[in-house]
Amino acid sequence: MARIDLFVGTVYGSAALVAERLSAELEGRGHRVTINEEARAKHLSPERFLLLVTSTTGQGDIPDNLAPFADDLRNKAPWLSPLQYALIAMGDSAYGDTFCGAGRTLDGLLQELGARPLVPHLEIDASEEDEPERPALTWLKGWAARLDTL
Ligand SMILES: Cc1cc2nc3c(=O)[nH]c(=O)nc-3n(C[C@H](O)[C@H](O)[C@H](O)COP(=O)(O)O)c2cc1C
Repeated sequence: MARIDLFVGTVYGSAALVAERLSAELEGRGHRVTINEEARAKHLSPERFLLLVTSTTGQGDIPDNLAPFADDLRNKAPWLSPLQYALIAMGDSAYGDTFCGAGRTLDGLLQELGARPLVPHLEIDASEEDEPERPALTWLKGWAARLDTL
């Protein structure tokens, strides 16, 4: 059984819905999940697995509810090793170069600070996918068994 922090960045609620579906799947597998929509770096613990789901707003920007977490990472630069994490970046390819910018930025920040991705991050394109929870669950099922060995 793993303890999982599920941090969410959302503007209109799609990422929150995806997070709820992932949480239900993980709890069904016996893990303990805490969803956090007001995450700060101080909420992280190396004893827990971090799952992060974020949409992108503005021009590749991090949603307001997750921006303080990103600021913590940038300004306080906490050393995050041996934290392990997985991340879903949600966006819309209609936005061109800023596609999934928030998730890509956070993935980079986490790795710069020593956190280790368990798997490559997933990108979900709202132009291609009406039901983002579907690719999210498929992705999760591809690696969830590894949580039992952490
Ligand atoms: C005002 C606005 C700005 C957006 N900017 C971007 C962007 O720069 N890059 C991107 O990939 N998606 C962008 N998106 C698309 C959203 O990230 C995408 O629709 C996502 O699924 C929304 O999830 P949410 O409901 O959790 O906020 C934008 C959407 C809106 C409404």
